[in-house]
Amino acid sequence: MTQDELKQKVAQAALEYIKDVPVIGVGTGSTVNHFINYLADMKGSIDGAVSSSVGTTERLKSLGIPVLDLNEVGTLEVYVDGADEINPHKQLIKGGGAALTREKIIAAASKTFVCIADDSKRVDVLGKFPLPVEVIPMSRSYVARELVKLGGQPVWREGCVTDNHNHILDVHNLNILDPIKLEQAINQITGVITVGLFAMRPADVVLVCQGETIVKF
Ligand code: 5RP
Repeated sequence: MTQDELKQKVAQAALEYIKDVPVIGVGTGSTVNHFINYLADMKGSIDGAVSSSVGTTERLKSLGIPVLDLNEVGTLEVYVDGADEINPHKQLIKGGGAALTREKIIAAASKTFVCIADDSKRVDVLGKFPLPVEVIPMSRSYVARELVKLGGQPVWREGCVTDNHNHILDVHNLNILDPIKLEQAINQITGVITVGLFAMRPADVVLVCQGETIVKF
């Protein structure tokens, strides 16, 4: 199976979690795009979706799925999203697609966060994938210096402007042995909007496609 086929298969497996769920939180990325395609097949039986990015909103709308405002919907039953890295504790690195802030908001507002991924995303220790940090543009250099003090090597994702009009620093060479502590430390830096560490609010269920098998943990 190609990586894209693995993503499609795991996206299909997530349908199990949205039976009788009227409004679904929808993440961002190539794995979730497959999920959105499946969602389109059942749009008659849902009220709509809460979207985590402009890209996802456009895709949902183009397939006729109503996009709802999180403020109107309140707590969501289920949020389905991908990840860039997943550790055995269901803690994640996210933000490769620069949508981390809205993704984190929807994860926080959801009862069940179902993370879907191909097997390449599983790691024992988070940090090989550069950790995305969304920052207010004028704070970028200051935040970068603070991230160096925490042991990372931040690199400005030049040319990338988030949906919230902010910048991204990708922090390389972190060996994240205590994800909650690092998430808290980065959250404390003035100018940081969101760090793409999902440790304080990890996934509730992870579905990973390993060849023909869906592994759930
Ligand atoms: C976007 C994300 C994505 O979930 C993550 O990058 C995984 O993407 P893909 O499904 O394309 O591998 O966090 O901000």
